[in-house]
Amino acid sequence: VAIFRKDYRPPDWLVPEVRLEFELDPDRTKVRSRLKLVRNGDHNRAIRLAGEGLEPLAVRVDGAEAPWSLDSGTLVIELEGDDATVETEIEISPAANNKLMGLYSSGGLLCTQCESEGFRRITFHPDRPDVLSRYSVRMSADKTRFPILLANGNLIGSGDGEVGRHWAKWEDPFPKPSYLFAMVAGDLAANSDRFTTMSGREVALNIWVRTRDLPKTAHAMDSLKAAMRWDEDVYGREYDLDLFNIVAVDDFNFGAMENKGLNIFNSRYVLADQDTATDVDFDNIAGVVAHEYFHNWSGDRVTCRDWFQLSLKEGFTVFRDQGFSADMGSAAVKRIEDVRLLRAAQFPEDAGPLAHPVRPESYIEITNFYTATVYNKGAEVIRMMRTILGEEAFRKGSDLYFDRHDGQAVTCEDFVKAMEDASGVDLSQFRLWYSQAGTPQVAAKLDYDPTSASATLKLRQRIPNTPGQADKQPMVIPLNVALIGKDSGATVGEERLILLNDDEESISFFGIDESPLLSINRDFSAPVMLAVERQDGDLEKLAEIDANPFARYEACQELMYRSLIEGTRSGPADPSAVVAAIRGTLRSNELDPAFKGEALLLPSEGLIGDRMDLVDPDAIHRSRESLRTAIGSELASELAQAQSAIAAGDDLSASAKGVRKLKTVALWLLAGGDRDRGLAMAKAQYDRADNMTDRQGALSVLTSLEGPEREAAFADFYQRYKNDSLVLDKWFALQAAAQRTDTIDVVEALARHEDFGIRNPNRWRALVGNFAANQWAFHHPSGRGYRFVADMILEVDRMNPQVAARQVPSLGRWRRFESGRAGLMRAELDRIVATPGISRDVYEQASKSLG
Ligand code: ARG
Ligand code: ZN
Repeated sequence: VAIFRKDYRPPDWLVPEVRLEFELDPDRTKVRSRLKLVRNGDHNRAIRLAGEGLEPLAVRVDGAEAPWSLDSGTLVIELEGDDATVETEIEISPAANNKLMGLYSSGGLLCTQCESEGFRRITFHPDRPDVLSRYSVRMSADKTRFPILLANGNLIGSGDGEVGRHWAKWEDPFPKPSYLFAMVAGDLAANSDRFTTMSGREVALNIWVRTRDLPKTAHAMDSLKAAMRWDEDVYGREYDLDLFNIVAVDDFNFGAMENKGLNIFNSRYVLADQDTATDVDFDNIAGVVAHEYFHNWSGDRVTCRDWFQLSLKEGFTVFRDQGFSADMGSAAVKRIEDVRLLRAAQFPEDAGPLAHPVRPESYIEITNFYTATVYNKGAEVIRMMRTILGEEAFRKGSDLYFDRHDGQAVTCEDFVKAMEDASGVDLSQFRLWYSQAGTPQVAAKLDYDPTSASATLKLRQRIPNTPGQADKQPMVIPLNVALIGKDSGATVGEERLILLNDDEESISFFGIDESPLLSINRDFSAPVMLAVERQDGDLEKLAEIDANPFARYEACQELMYRSLIEGTRSGPADPSAVVAAIRGTLRSNELDPAFKGEALLLPSEGLIGDRMDLVDPDAIHRSRESLRTAIGSELASELAQAQSAIAAGDDLSASAKGVRKLKTVALWLLAGGDRDRGLAMAKAQYDRADNMTDRQGALSVLTSLEGPEREAAFADFYQRYKNDSLVLDKWFALQAAAQRTDTIDVVEALARHEDFGIRNPNRWRALVGNFAANQWAFHHPSGRGYRFVADMILEVDRMNPQVAARQVPSLGRWRRFESGRAGLMRAELDRIVATPGISRDVYEQASKSLG
């Protein structure tokens, strides 16, 4: 059954107060709840409290037994008066909860995940984000097994109970929706610290982990303090409780969760040291810690009215965490990474059967809408508003938004309205970014007239049709444009912001005394696909001289795409332009290693496929390998030099990270030119590594090669890390990412490995997710890759539908492939849909993918 945005109605009953009592036990947890309910508006509808898999043991209204009924899980109570206290009592089994939604057990801990609709698996409640309540929670548990008892807000009492049990009472002064409820019980130790807010309030900070993991929490703590300071400096947002807790759990469906005052994290986004985590892991931890912390304002203090508004908090918060990471490291490199992710994950979504607007119109299962569109395109929409309004007006708009809506559950429209009111800029047409799906396609051409010293930029936009949406209106597309002298390399037309808001527009530049090059969509000012008509030699020149690092990177990538696509058609293309651009990049004294590492990375096979009418995985692989070989052999000495650079493993500065990034990219290119030399150098890099970045980098090259060096390194890695589950995930992931003809055999064997299991989402995704992202291997012409992934989806679906459903889109892209592969992919989707008892989650994704 689909739910529609247009059907929104305010809640019939409000719940100003929630009191919960938990008698915790892994097998049988008793939950007593006491809700204060108040009729909202003039109506005579019954109280309906959502429940999933709950059997009421008792229901009392105003202290007395009262009639009730269950309507497919929902508790229905008819009431005459306008307010009531409803008490319920139920029993649940956290240990048997494999969906990891609601209250569940993970590695001996008891923990919760409620967003979006997990609270109804804990107790009866309206469980919708526009019902805000004050919570007080009493929890009791066995004192030895669960010495630490945590919930949202402040601890207001604790003590011993009968027969080895103890209790704690928590109260959260801030009204919140049920999806932000959280609770943890377990044998945990804390890395504790303090933070003084801008107004001088002291906040106690704790990161709770198993005792043995304490040494791996320093980076997360540093990141948290940096994020708290940054949100004060950049957004004027101060933390509001005296306590902030983070808990790391091993079994977690997503990255992390922003529960008020008690963030719960997938342990992979908390734990790190140089021996077990890569630089990318360190950066991801900082980004996710900041993201969840920033939600305290953009999410908790101001929350969503309904789940169609999810991007209100997620798009904005992703935008905020991107800004934080940009300020902590290199802004240009961060932008390159974010844009790569957008193109790799969101553009295909926007171009496929599951395309939806940033603010969706309908859903069957809301969990399927935690997408790259809602998160990452949503962040781009916020970024465009800042670009259009300017930083100052944007900040005024965000202040107004927080001020106006503090303590409310609001909509994307409310956000845009605040921006409009604060800036005086009319954003009516801009709102189309929330309602129209599909990546806009922009065509650009620059004409130069030397006699009048003027240039004319012709722009055209087209918004592709998407499922359920045709005939779209032109959008507001902010394009940062500069003109660069072809000969002098100097800026001849200062960077300016052009707002393309018609189907077609012409923009004139005057006083241009030199033939200009067009540098457009600088810093990716708009999330569009751009086709620029250029003259021979223009791109080469831009790749060499564009002063905007992002634009320079883009020019370099365009050169690569051009050669790679040509190589898929007619055999190896002439690599000389790419080789020259890379040589120039490597030799440059002004570019830093991190940027060089990005600029040298060839576009992934998936991204190359996105530029073809029909994806041909074999031709793409051949073409990319041949370009790699050409670069590797022609630039062997420069690459060897970059590969030999060493940065101490405990040096986490941006420059040391850059050196390590470039090192492995250089190794990979070198190995393309000379496999034997590559094997030897990779083995040496592995053996000498004093950090996980170099070690995993060496393995990422070795995994696609053949030889005893490969086997030795993987065996060593396994022996060394088999008891560290986060590192063992890497061992699975690296093998699933191997570009080899036997990868499907290896992956099938790994699915039977004693260390493989499907209850842990990280392990499942390490194997299945990485394999499905390995285009050449996954699209094995036999269809075995599809069958494997479909089998894994069906198997995990019986346990954890959310994890299963997230993998369906990899099969859903069948229309992009030649008929043989397309038919095999479709057949697997058909098989999934025809399987009795599949979840709503998987059903929605698979049936929509079939179209
Ligand atoms: N709000 C969390 C975050 O982005 C993610 C929650 C994911 N929940 C879900 N049902 N997919 O930080
Ligand atoms: Zn979020």
